[in-house]
Amino acid sequence: MVTGAGSGIGLALVKHYAKRGHTVYATKLASQDVDYAAENVTYFDVDFLKDDGCAWLESVNAPIDIFVANAGAGKYEKNTVPSPNDAMYRLNTLTPIEQFYYLKEKGFSGTFVVMGSIMALWPLAGYARFSHTKGALVTYFKALQVTETIPIVIMLPVAVQTQFFTNSRQAHAPWLAQKPDRVSKKMAKVIERKKRVWISSRLFAVLYKISPRILRFYQKRENRIYHETFHKEKNRSDSYE
Ligand SMILES: NC(=O)c1ccc[n+]([C@@H]2O[C@H](COP(=O)([O-])OP(=O)(O)OC[C@H]3O[C@@H](n4cnc5c(N)ncnc54)[C@H](OP(=O)(O)O)[C@@H]3O)[C@@H](O)[C@H]2O)c1
Repeated sequence: MVTGAGSGIGLALVKHYAKRGHTVYATKLASQDVDYAAENVTYFDVDFLKDDGCAWLESVNAPIDIFVANAGAGKYEKNTVPSPNDAMYRLNTLTPIEQFYYLKEKGFSGTFVVMGSIMALWPLAGYARFSHTKGALVTYFKALQVTETIPIVIMLPVAVQTQFFTNSRQAHAPWLAQKPDRVSKKMAKVIERKKRVWISSRLFAVLYKISPRILRFYQKRENRIYHETFHKEKNRSDSYE
């Protein structure tokens, strides 16, 4: 089961599992036309900001082996004070948490996969709000890894070439960009091994492990671009809706 599978990493995971003969249930936004169909794939049109994040699960009677809480969104923006009813927080943080408890209540014994972000650990300029939603998500599920018996795998994608950056309205290209098909293949292996936390870029993971200070040059570059962007675009919208 994969949420937010109309595009990007979610769609790549659906294709990966479907091609290997698994039965796949996936969600997408009604506005998204998916150019992939297979007999063993069922799509539900669900908007987690408008619909109940769990009600659609009632329609699935089959036992679930893997649940990938993948749906999420970012916004490249000027630093803001998040609203108490922040839509990005609802989508990125609360919805996966609600889905976890819903499944637990139903006796779920498969693997629960959380799509975090490297920015949960290592934020970049322009993504303060996104980083706090993913930081909260990742630390919440790290706490559950201690207390729960359900295996939880936390993915930390780094610059995967999806609609993420276009949807976020980031105009400049990210560093270390990776193809979603390659990343989804590796993710499937990580899920199989039930690895607790996984960073999608090996180079980034190695450098980060040696010392996050090595990567400071990239944060500085992003900081410069951030100041240039928002100095030029004073009237740029700050809200995610
Ligand atoms: N790409 C990266 O480098 C990167 C980095 C860090 C974290 N991530 C995380 O990885 C996950 C997948 O992102 P992606 O890179 O594959 O980008 P993406 O192509 O933009 O995928 C995001 C998915 O979330 C779904 N979604 C957005 N708003 C939704 C809503 N209100 N209700 C239900 N579904 C909604 C979208 O549905 P539709 O397809 O139907 O529009 C889409 O399938 C996200 O959680 C993202 O935050 C990605």
